[in-house]
Amino acid sequence: MNLKVLEKQAQEEIYHIQSLKDLENWRVKYLGRKSELSLFFDSLKKLPLKQRKAKGSQANEIRLILTSLYQQKKKKLESQTTTYHFFDITRPGQKLSKGHLHPITLVLNEITRSFEKLGFEIILGPEIETEYYNFDALRIPDNHPARDMWDTFWLKSKIKNQKSKLLLRTHTSPMQIRYMEKHEPPFRIIVPGKCFRFEATDNHHEFQFHQIEGLMVDDNITLANFKFIIEEVIKDIFKNQVELRFRPSYFPFVSPGLEVDIKLKNKPKGQWLEIMGAGMVHPDLFETVKYPKNMWQGFAFGLGVERIAMIKYGINDIRLFFNPDIRFLEQF
Ligand code: DAH
Repeated sequence: MNLKVLEKQAQEEIYHIQSLKDLENWRVKYLGRKSELSLFFDSLKKLPLKQRKAKGSQANEIRLILTSLYQQKKKKLESQTTTYHFFDITRPGQKLSKGHLHPITLVLNEITRSFEKLGFEIILGPEIETEYYNFDALRIPDNHPARDMWDTFWLKSKIKNQKSKLLLRTHTSPMQIRYMEKHEPPFRIIVPGKCFRFEATDNHHEFQFHQIEGLMVDDNITLANFKFIIEEVIKDIFKNQVELRFRPSYFPFVSPGLEVDIKLKNKPKGQWLEIMGAGMVHPDLFETVKYPKNMWQGFAFGLGVERIAMIKYGINDIRLFFNPDIRFLEQF
């Protein structure tokens, strides 16, 4: 047998091999126990030592070459099969689910944007308030019957010499005082934020909710200014499909005081729904913040954000807003 011919033949064959199965056949044929090469080694045993060495070393060299060829080819074929992935470009993509804004945030954003268009500045205030700003400065002294309107979460303060008791604000109105203490008119602001009341819950009452306080102070402000601005904003939010009603009411920090109701035009038989308290800022408040007497007038209002959201989206239970039920939240 000509070893050189054998080597050449083996090399040519392995070059064309494309599968691991064919490669295995090739291995059996050229390196297996019954291969020509193995039979050749067996035949060497019968030769005297000298000849055995000479012929043996040539055959050994060929065996090393073929073994190395085999290993390289095997590596190559294996790497091809493992990196080959089928990619179906027609398969529909997987939708990435991303979060979205809470309905209250959506309504808050919409209302504040509407006021911004009319030149109102957005101011934020603390959720932990003092009794002074939440009540006294707004003409609601201790034992005043009007305090009953605002059932309160009182806080135990560890601050030494705390003059005024701490509480969770029951409304956003305290920011009227805080803002006026530091700013001179004319100005127009809104104060969106969370409020808390120590109240039993039902479908129209929650112990936490959002309000938007409004305050505009200038010279020569009247209820006509208030009416115009509120009509603009409410019609903007309800795409003009709404009627408004202004009705006298009482709040200690305004005089006169009023309430605003709305009715949806597509529900003419529906009832009037209250959405805010309002009024002309009481002169005592101006005195409290040390504005000169009889110089300024202003209107103030407090808008219930959950109420607006409930009317806008037809929601009948305020508790849904604070309930993390994904089936409810996914509708917005
Ligand atoms: N703070 C009042 C409340 O929570 C709402 C309110 C009424 C705000 C009249 C005002 C106002 O600014 O003028 O019930």
